Amino acid sequence: MCGIIGVVQKKGDAAPFLHQALKRLEYRGYDSVGITTIYNNQLFTKKDKGKIDEVHASLNLDDLPGPIGIGHTRWATHGIPSLYNSHPHFDCDNKIAVVHNGVIDNFLELREELKQKGHKFHSETDTEVIPHMIEDYMKNGMDLKSSVRAVSERIEGTYAIVVMTTLESDKIVCTRDGNPLVIGTRPDASYVSSDIPAFLPMTNDMILLLDGEIATLTTCGVSIEKISDGTPVKRDVIRISWTADQAQKGGFPHFMLKEIHEQPMAIKNTLHLRSDAIRPAAEMILNSKKVYLIAMGTSGHAAMAGKHMLAALGGIFSTFELASDFPDTIYGTLTEDDCIIAITQSGETTDTIAAVKYAKSFGAKVIAITNVIGSSITRIADHTIITQAGPEIGVAATKTFMVQLTALALLALMLGETNSFLDQNTLRKKRESLTKLPDIVSDVIAKSEEHARRLSAILYDRPSFLFLGRGISIATANEGALKLKEISYNHAEGYSAGESKHGPIALVHDGFPVVFVIPNDATRNRIIGNVMEMKARGATIISVIEEGDNDLIELSDHYITIPKGVEPEFSTIPFVVPLQLFSYYMAIKKGHDPDKPRHLAKSVTVL
Ligand code: AGP
Ligand code: GLU
Repeated sequence: MCGIIGVVQKKGDAAPFLHQALKRLEYRGYDSVGITTIYNNQLFTKKDKGKIDEVHASLNLDDLPGPIGIGHTRWATHGIPSLYNSHPHFDCDNKIAVVHNGVIDNFLELREELKQKGHKFHSETDTEVIPHMIEDYMKNGMDLKSSVRAVSERIEGTYAIVVMTTLESDKIVCTRDGNPLVIGTRPDASYVSSDIPAFLPMTNDMILLLDGEIATLTTCGVSIEKISDGTPVKRDVIRISWTADQAQKGGFPHFMLKEIHEQPMAIKNTLHLRSDAIRPAAEMILNSKKVYLIAMGTSGHAAMAGKHMLAALGGIFSTFELASDFPDTIYGTLTEDDCIIAITQSGETTDTIAAVKYAKSFGAKVIAITNVIGSSITRIADHTIITQAGPEIGVAATKTFMVQLTALALLALMLGETNSFLDQNTLRKKRESLTKLPDIVSDVIAKSEEHARRLSAILYDRPSFLFLGRGISIATANEGALKLKEISYNHAEGYSAGESKHGPIALVHDGFPVVFVIPNDATRNRIIGNVMEMKARGATIISVIEEGDNDLIELSDHYITIPKGVEPEFSTIPFVVPLQLFSYYMAIKKGHDPDKPRHLAKSVTVL
């Protein structure tokens, strides 16, 4: 987590750009914010705890001199959100400024060593050891780049670091190991950032920086070297198709609502993926003995649904495991004949990356499904499917979930075709249904938004909710529950309706809200039994059902309908939409900012 940004430009003050770039990175963390610039061989800093707008209102973040600067928006790991723990952090002489994303595991030992040498610390962060170490190296005659290289040899953990100093005031030096950094370039400026949208208004030209590389940004351009031996790295510029507008709210009050409304387009763009983007993945799966889907959070729910799609459409049985627990679940039973499908919209989730590295250590093949070109996972996977959602800024994943499901559907259909699990008629029917989904999702948004808003006005003060489904709809129910808890802070549990009578039903009392996800698939009749059980105990039944399902309309206290004609394997895509909207309006009703839920950040880069 944490958003970091740096700019070296030929003229003009850097601070207004850094401030706006941090706004675009704020989804990565919002405990505190800070900017440091260099002017006349002196560092100028403004930083404090709080969200960017609050800090700007009291400090005016635009008012710092100099064309070179770095900035940070924090998601605290070491030390409470406070002025002193805010980045940038400095050396004893206030000549070296550092912003950092990640965790330095051996910081206690390093801090002790530095204290013994007389260094004074001002924060509780792990980060602060870095400027003090650089100070020592530079005092011993090293230049900035060599000092950063020397630091990288001593620190353990994961990091992306951006550094500048008045001692070499024409440049920024940055390096990474395990946390993201991308470089933006144009003739009169160079940028480095945790994520592409930060510099999108200035340039679409990007250069990847890989783990174990060090980059120097000056007004003359960017140079990259391997940190181990200083070998120069030549890397092509990639032109990104994302637009700066995609990273703006575009008239919507929140990114989350905008991104829900962008879902039809995101699905459509992902459906346009060429078959050669999918085929290598299908071949890898067909050549494997065991197939595992691994992911976290919302991506985990896509994986849960994907497991159903792979079996029902592709004839391939797989298992879903949380990436964070993968090594502790499979106890080294992987082989090189196995295949991992890792799903992560950001491509940076440390739990998922760690599980992939673990799988690779056994020689297993890795397919990644991610939304971010050049993200960490793309560099370790054997094949990557890049989904086409465009940048997602809201912390709550919505449109990236849709495109993960779409990519999995394409993969499942290709499997079903390649291994003849599906006959031509069935294939045609499934494909037709898939291509209708953008229109169906548009329709669902148009028809259910007001309904979801009204429901939130009725239910916002209920402390706890159950979300139930069967089959693939367990994934949908889990996602509905996750959305509700993460942005509106109502307790919510997603469960199998079948399992609900083995315990969770004890929670139910008069008026207890139970949300049922009931597409018209093979599970429908059995789940009606579960609706009856809940009703008999006084539950308020809220259901998401197919249009014209009169039995369930009759049984429900509140219902939202989805158009007919969605094949069961794709039902998660339209059925989750009213649940996303419901959580959004619950958050609004309760006065929470759905784009910046407490304690969360867009990408979780700690284990
Ligand atoms: C989703 O709304 C959450 N913010 C979170 O669960 C997220 O899905 C999870 O952290 C995984 O992220 P990833 O897709 O970038 O790996
Ligand atoms: N460890 C640093 C801090 O606590 C950076 C946190 C992060 O990147 O998540 O300030």
